[in-house]
Amino acid sequence: ITVYVFKTANDVALAASQMMAGTINQPKCNLGLATGSTPVKTYTQLIKMHQSRVLSFKNVTTFNLDEYCIPSHHSQSYRTFMQENLFDYVDIKPYDTHVMSGTAVDPEAETRAFESLILARGGVDLWLLGIGANGHIGFNEPGSEELSRSRVVELTARTRKDNARFFETMDQVPTHAVSAGVATILDAKCILLLATGAAKAEAIKAAVVGPRGVECPASFIQGHRHAVFMVDEEAAAFIE
Ligand code: F6R
Repeated sequence: ITVYVFKTANDVALAASQMMAGTINQPKCNLGLATGSTPVKTYTQLIKMHQSRVLSFKNVTTFNLDEYCIPSHHSQSYRTFMQENLFDYVDIKPYDTHVMSGTAVDPEAETRAFESLILARGGVDLWLLGIGANGHIGFNEPGSEELSRSRVVELTARTRKDNARFFETMDQVPTHAVSAGVATILDAKCILLLATGAAKAEAIKAAVVGPRGVECPASFIQGHRHAVFMVDEEAAAFIE
């Protein structure tokens, strides 16, 4: 893992968007994407680049990491998040954006179809990731195996609490999600993980210098050939 430490979250977003732009401007590109608070500034930068005509998504296909088991049109679904934070503002074709449905009649079949689609399209060139305070990537919570594939997962109490800010009451926070597996993520040719803020310092330490294992699913990235972490000083506090 190559770790780049930046002063602020804005600096992380600038560097991340520049790295992503290099991939996006290829003649053909498959991009893995994440939701959550962390990548929002990066998406804003990508939108700015698109508006100033230095970046086009017309040859891009996207695959999102995960989706809650709530309807796609729900205000807090990750499909809605992607539309509101990126897709609605760039020239990506709607049918080139793939976010699993969390309410498919057969959710396991939905996750298998997601895996097949990635394979059929030639694999993911770059997968953008955030990291959970407990070391999760996608919704691969602690306990997730290195060889895990896309599947239905149960969210931990910690993750539900971390994400409760987006819902009115704790009861409304989804208990389940569909998520790309650890192996699905590690299959990407390049991984770009972003982390900002002190709440991620522990997880970044475990991912970068901790033992590789299911306690911190992000630690499996240590075995990847081309993984880059871009973090701010607060998130880097325990590795410097
Ligand atoms: C989002 C995802 C999650 C988040 C993680 C960090 O698609 O898969 O793993 O990346 O929970 O979330 P934030 O950025 O909100 O701290």
